[in-house]
Amino acid sequence: MDNILEVRNIYKYYGDMAANDDISLSVKKGSIHAIIGENGAGKSTLMNILSGVVEPTNGDIILNGKKRAFKNAVDASTAGIGMVQQEFMLFPGLSVLENIILGDEPVKNKFFMDLSKSEEKIKSICKEYGFNFDLYANIDDLPVVLQQQVEIVKVLFREAEIIILDEPTAVLPPQEIEGLFKAMRFLIAQGKTILFITHKLKEVLEISDTITVMKLGKVVGHIDTKDATESILTNMMVGRNVMLQIEKNPKINKSRQVLSCENLTVIGNSGNEKVKNISFSLHEGEILGIVGVAGNGQAELVEAITGTRGYTGSIKMDNVQVKQLDSRSNRFAGMGYVPQDRNIVGSSPESNLVDNSIMGGHLKRFKKYNYLMDYQEGRRYTNEIINKYKVKAQDYNDFASSLSGGNLQKLIVGREFSQNNHVLIIEDPVRGIDVGAIEFIWNEIVRQVEEEKVSVLLITYDLNEAMTLSDRILVIYDGEIRTELYNADFDERLIGFNMLGGVNKDE
Ligand SMILES: Nc1ncnc2c1ncn2[C@@H]1O[C@H](COP(=O)(O)OP(=O)(O)OP(=O)(O)O)[C@@H](O)[C@H]1O
Ligand SMILES: [Mg+2]
Repeated sequence: MDNILEVRNIYKYYGDMAANDDISLSVKKGSIHAIIGENGAGKSTLMNILSGVVEPTNGDIILNGKKRAFKNAVDASTAGIGMVQQEFMLFPGLSVLENIILGDEPVKNKFFMDLSKSEEKIKSICKEYGFNFDLYANIDDLPVVLQQQVEIVKVLFREAEIIILDEPTAVLPPQEIEGLFKAMRFLIAQGKTILFITHKLKEVLEISDTITVMKLGKVVGHIDTKDATESILTNMMVGRNVMLQIEKNPKINKSRQVLSCENLTVIGNSGNEKVKNISFSLHEGEILGIVGVAGNGQAELVEAITGTRGYTGSIKMDNVQVKQLDSRSNRFAGMGYVPQDRNIVGSSPESNLVDNSIMGGHLKRFKKYNYLMDYQEGRRYTNEIINKYKVKAQDYNDFASSLSGGNLQKLIVGREFSQNNHVLIIEDPVRGIDVGAIEFIWNEIVRQVEEEKVSVLLITYDLNEAMTLSDRILVIYDGEIRTELYNADFDERLIGFNMLGGVNKDE
């Protein structure tokens, strides 16, 4: 097979730090080429260079045998390279169609947008590749799975030959991943080439043809997928075997209730009941997992508890009624929150790392003389998080947006775990985090629970995570709690069965 793309000696410096340090690799036409490596290894930087978003400090990109330099994403897109970013690039408030054509609008009579021509082209792409969504729907109303498909169609609309997918599975609930893989296989069958980034080694082994491993800005090595195993790959990535073994003593916890929901009903954006009259409690020193297929009321439940959505019924923390829509009081009462969305809800991208580390605790812990902020303590605290959670950052004055996806996630987890919160609501805590760091964060959750009597409500879409960490699991389906299981009775099939509403998939 021919090489459609060659990367030769690419460097990218941010100040003194080499995000890419002499990267070379060859990509075969019609293959799925995986790029893996720890958080901050430089994967997204390299992909941004290939798609024209970031200019390299040095080095060559050779596309179809010709040396190319891209000044911007339009240049790269015209040359045939398109990228679906780690964080989607969709414009809220616009329709699906507008989002797809934005920046590449076909024109008729020199001045007018030719919407019907675009619509025809998009419809034929959707038909060819088996995508199905309403072109006139508002993009905000689409679930993440479809938003991702819109991003892929956007790239196909620009006639990309090489499609870069930066952690596309991180945003998908597990049952949607096979659908994405099907689409990827189909793209390959049509002669496209895919560069695929993921932290999940099982996915790499399942779908890729070849793998490049990166570490600290450099290429560690290339390996054909047929010769690779999980253990070979973790050793290349992290330099050791990661067993993901957590030392935990699961218990049946009957100690005092720290959080209790009674007859809780929450209305979703569409006006329907998303949480339907549910009752449960979290005990001191317990990890209570809530699992379910995404969209079954988890998001609304978390919003009600953390104070960003109204509800009927009762929520009590430490036996005191929680005020509706009052996240500030929750914070003061000691509730920490790791949201699923790290960019909009979880951080302030254009603020520095100190502001991002103290937020949430700024009125409580970092106040000085009642009206000033104690930035000296804030900086000390930020450094503590950076060191403990191994956040790869150059300086605490950097914007949060300069951190790699996984490193921002580590900072947010570190912040919420370090502000003396005694109730933690954590949603998908290790999303986008590399295997070595997952092991650390899982152990830290267990340590805080066992040694500091922190109580954790863990909302996750990853059954393995829920079963590894939880003392007890509640399965949520269609806004109701289907079943409750203690650790000794955890059974993947039974949980899966309840996640689907207790209906046998094959029926
Ligand atoms: N605009 C920027 N300014 C300063 N540093 C940056 C910038 N963009 C990236 N970096 C740094 O470059 C390094 C590589 O980041 P990159 O996003 O490529 O990592 P990654 O391998 O994609 O990690 P992840 O798995 O967490 O997504 C990181 O240390 C990051 O902080
Ligand atoms: Mg990245």
